[in-house]
This record gives sequence, C-alpha cells and structure tokens, in this order.
Amino acid sequence: MRNILLHIHPAKINEKALVFNRTFGLGGMAALLIVIQFITGVLLRFYYTPSPAEAYDSIIFLKNDVLFGQFIRNIHYWSGVFMLMIAFLHFLRVFFTGAYQDIRKLNWLFGLGLLFLVVFLNFTGYLLPWDQLAYWAITVSTNIISYLPLIGDSLRTMIVGGKELNAGTLQTFYTFHTAVLPFLLLILVLYHFWRVRKAGGVLIPETDGEDIMVKVNPNLVFKEFIVALVLLAIVFLVSALFNAPLLEKANPAYSMNPTKAPWYFAGVQELLMHFHPVFASFVIPTSVMVFFAWLPFLKFNESPNGKWFISEKGIQSAKVVSIFAILVTVAGILFNEYILDFEMIMPGIPALISNGIIPLIILIGLMLGFYGIYLKRLNLSKEELVQVVFVFIIVAFIVLTIIGIFFRGKDMELTLY
Ligand code: HEM
Repeated sequence: MRNILLHIHPAKINEKALVFNRTFGLGGMAALLIVIQFITGVLLRFYYTPSPAEAYDSIIFLKNDVLFGQFIRNIHYWSGVFMLMIAFLHFLRVFFTGAYQDIRKLNWLFGLGLLFLVVFLNFTGYLLPWDQLAYWAITVSTNIISYLPLIGDSLRTMIVGGKELNAGTLQTFYTFHTAVLPFLLLILVLYHFWRVRKAGGVLIPETDGEDIMVKVNPNLVFKEFIVALVLLAIVFLVSALFNAPLLEKANPAYSMNPTKAPWYFAGVQELLMHFHPVFASFVIPTSVMVFFAWLPFLKFNESPNGKWFISEKGIQSAKVVSIFAILVTVAGILFNEYILDFEMIMPGIPALISNGIIPLIILIGLMLGFYGIYLKRLNLSKEELVQVVFVFIIVAFIVLTIIGIFFRGKDMELTLY
C-alpha cells in the first residue's frame, strides 16, 4: 500500500503545500470521481443494451428490477455532473494561482485536454438512456456542429451517421463513452499526475518563511482521506435524494419544447440566439479555446508567485470586471431580445456581418471603453490584464449558461420561471 502511495506522492512534501486553500483538493476530488465513474460505469454495462429498441427498456429494468440499480445509475449520473463542475473549478484555481506558467505549461495544455474529455464523456453518456430528453438534447447539440463553416454538415453527418439520430449514433456514442474516452482519460490523468510530481508538487507562494519538509503520510494522506469521505458522502446523499432524469422513451416524431442542449452547452446555445451561427458555434468558442491554450506561452515579466489573483490590484480588477461582465451579458441579451434585432434593422446586409461582425465589434468596443475609462488608471501589469480578460470570458460564459438553463422556457422565450 505504501508503495502505491509513493507512486502518487513523494515521501515528503513542503509543509506549505498542505494549506487547504492552495488547491482545495479539487484535482484529487476529480480523480476520485473518475474512479467512482469507472466502477459504476462497469456495473451499468451489465444491464445496458445500446440499441434504440432496447436501451430505454434496459434502463427501466435497471431502475425497477435490479437491486440498487436506480442508486448506482444515480451515482454514475451525479458523479459525472460533479466531475465536470470540479474539473472546471480546478481549472479556475490553477489559472488564478498562476500555476499554468513555466514548468507547468505542458500540464496546463494536458489539463485542457482532460476538460475536453470530461465534457465529451458527459455528452456521449447523455444520449445512452434514449429518452426524449437525451434524444432532443443531442439533436440540438449536434445541429450546432452543422453551423461550422465548410465542414459543419459533413462533420455532423459523420458523427450522427445520417441525417437524424439512429442506431448507429447510439452505437458510436456508446463506444466512445465506454471505451475510447475512458481509455484516453486514464492515460491523460496518469500523465497529468506524473507531471505534477515532475514540477516538484503544487505551486507554492514565495514567502520569506523557511521551507519545512514533512512526511506525506500521515500529513497529506489524512487530509486527502477526509476530503474523499466528505465528497463520497455528498455524492451518496445527492444520489439518494435525487434521481437521474429519465423521461418517456425517445420519439423522433415529437420534439420537446423547449429543446435544450445539455446544461454544459447551454451557454453556446444561448450565444446562438444572439450571434450568427458561424460566430456562436465557431468563431467565439474557438477564439476562447485558442486564448486558453495560448496563455502559458505569453511572456510575463515575473515568474508566477502562486498567490491567488496575483496581487491586491489583481483582486480589485477581477471583482470590477466580473460586475462589468454580468452587466454587459445580461444587458446584451435583453437588448438583443426585446429592442434591437441586428438582422432586421440591416436587411440588405449579409447576416454574417449584421449579426456576427457588427455585434462582436460593439462588444469589443465596450470592453475597450471599459479599459480606457476604468482599468487604465489601475496601471495593471501584463499578468493582471490577462487575468481581466480571463475573468470576463468565464463570468460571461457562466451568465450565458445560467440564462440558458433557467431563464429559457417554451419556444426558447426568455422567462422568469
Ligand atoms: C479529470 C480532470 C483532472 C484531474 C483528475 C486533475 C488532477 C490534478 C491533481 C490531483 C493535481 C495536483 C494538485 C491539485 O489537486 O490541484 C493537479 C494539478 C494541476 N492540474 Fe489538474 N486535473 C484535472 C484537470 C485539469 C484541468 C482542466 C487543468 C487546466 C486546464 C489542469 C491543470 C493542472 C495544472 C497546471 C496542475 C499543476 C498545478 C500546480 O502545480 O499548482 N488540470 N491536477
């Protein structure tokens, strides 16, 4: 047992690495959730049949006739949801402590790969129950793919295996969900862990105090044990109280209203209501991903100091830009929904310009205006400026997602309930 532990941790670590709010144990929690997913996933495989005729009935059988079947399905579902949330929070903590630079730059990129895998594990799993919710959510999500320029339509046809979801789609999603993606996730997580050790452990703020090395066992192991127990308790409790969703069997002839994408794509779906599809499904998401991948290659004046939000100015600017991002996103959505439809007021102009380039220029103009009026006076360093852009993107994305999930009702109209 001790040898296994030594593969994961070194024998001794810096005492400062034990401070809980350094990492909040988020990486470890994501790892534990992966283990739970693997175990419950294997158990579910014993009963699940990946064909449109039998998939739904096999879930009903599991629910009603298999001992703890419903509970195991709930654990698999909720730990998948938590894994996505926790991997996202871990991604934020790594960014806000500056742990994506220097020696950790490659691990940041592999981390992005992990986030991508976690999203697609959730996405491919979503279809498997083959109920109305799954069928229509995956239908709208795959429709988003067809908006990609040039290759969109053929890419969608390739993924779906036809024009509409069919037996082939279910088989493809099943293979990805139960074999390809878990295998890639496992390899990538092991490599990710190895790189954390290679970097000498987690990033620790430079302080004047001396570095005291302490034994990992019991100092760190005990804390990890407590975090694992609390997480397990939460997953079990939520799984006991709330069932994983299951509506009636998929009916391709009767669409849901509203037809919503899975919650983690609700932000992109919301963006589609306001921007030309090429911008909402391709230009904006790709630019954001390129920005995230480009971050570790930016040349900063100083090495990361491991402090949350860099400095006092960093904290202040992050707070103000969060408020700005909330206001701009909410106001932009309301304005576009009720007051100004760019395509309608510029009928002679191609929609790509009226509903894509023009609103984007307005948005960039607002951000530059905010910089000129407020941020410039703070005299921010390059690190702090990059943080401001990051905060804007993340907050805007969260607001879009919340509106997409909670404030879109029948016919995708804005609603308060
Ligand atoms: C399945 C998902 C993931 C798992 C299981 C995982 C696991 C871990 C663990 C256990 C650590 C050690 C410290 C800690 O707990 O924070 C860590 C550190 C790290 N992770 Fe992840 N991670 C995942 C996703 C990500 C993502 C999405 C990113 C960012 C894009 C990322 C980037 C990093 C980096 C750069 C470090 C080093 C941080 C430091 O040295 O302070 N990881 N990860």
